[in-house]
Amino acid sequence: MLEKIKATSAYIKEKTSLKPEIGIILGTGLGGLVNEIEIESSIPYAEIPNFPVSTVQGHEGRLIFGKLGNKEVVAMQGRFHYYEGYSMQEVTFPVRVMKLLGITHLFVSNASGGLNPSYHVGDIMVINDHINMFPEHPLHGKNLDELGPRFPDMSRVYNDRLRNKARLIAFEHDFDLKEGVYVGVQGPTFETPAEYKMFRIFGGDVVGMSTVPEVIVAAHMGMKVFGISIITDSGVPGQIVEVSHEEVQKVARKAEPKMTLVLKELINSL
Ligand code: HPA
Repeated sequence: MLEKIKATSAYIKEKTSLKPEIGIILGTGLGGLVNEIEIESSIPYAEIPNFPVSTVQGHEGRLIFGKLGNKEVVAMQGRFHYYEGYSMQEVTFPVRVMKLLGITHLFVSNASGGLNPSYHVGDIMVINDHINMFPEHPLHGKNLDELGPRFPDMSRVYNDRLRNKARLIAFEHDFDLKEGVYVGVQGPTFETPAEYKMFRIFGGDVVGMSTVPEVIVAAHMGMKVFGISIITDSGVPGQIVEVSHEEVQKVARKAEPKMTLVLKELINSL
């Protein structure tokens, strides 16, 4: 595994002259951020040795190197979801490669269903903690001691300073920013009303099908993590209506300018 990660990062380093310390996973709601990046080079996933290839509608797969404001960044346009059939090792492989590229800060976005009754469809939420409900753990198996410890601490995964700054940015621009717990599930089904209720009782504020695997691996390697989520549908009893991928994408597109603004300003402020 380590050899693969090293080979892939060596290949990628040949393709760019930039040395970014900031990695971004352009999940749902951050697709537009790519337009803000002054692109230096981009590599289709299909050309990267050992990289899985993205299949899900609305996620193009390429790795982008460029400048976002005054910072060099590497951005994943398209991520790998567990529900697509990838193993956890495949889902998290690019984050491990990022570590070897020199990434110290990881920014992630996603779409989610709201569990907290005070949240509304279209709201955005900074993730301050997560609950891992995936059926497989990304660190299952032999530990890669070169990357991180066997038993990683998870008490402060979502960086305090970055969350505080995000709150300040939202305040300055006069919009509401929620903060709460993301429950990560395998999907691909959306939840039944009973499942939404259960995840609320568990302590979740939103539920979604990504992010947790990548974040665990990033935390294992000591990266500073910032996660942000768009509430695209409601799992609150009495507010649940039929939901589809198209509806999720539609709501996410509307919230995109706010997400993009937060990320751009946050990264610039580092
Ligand atoms: N549940 C799980 N994943 C999601 C949801 C949801 O309601 N909305 C967007 N992604």
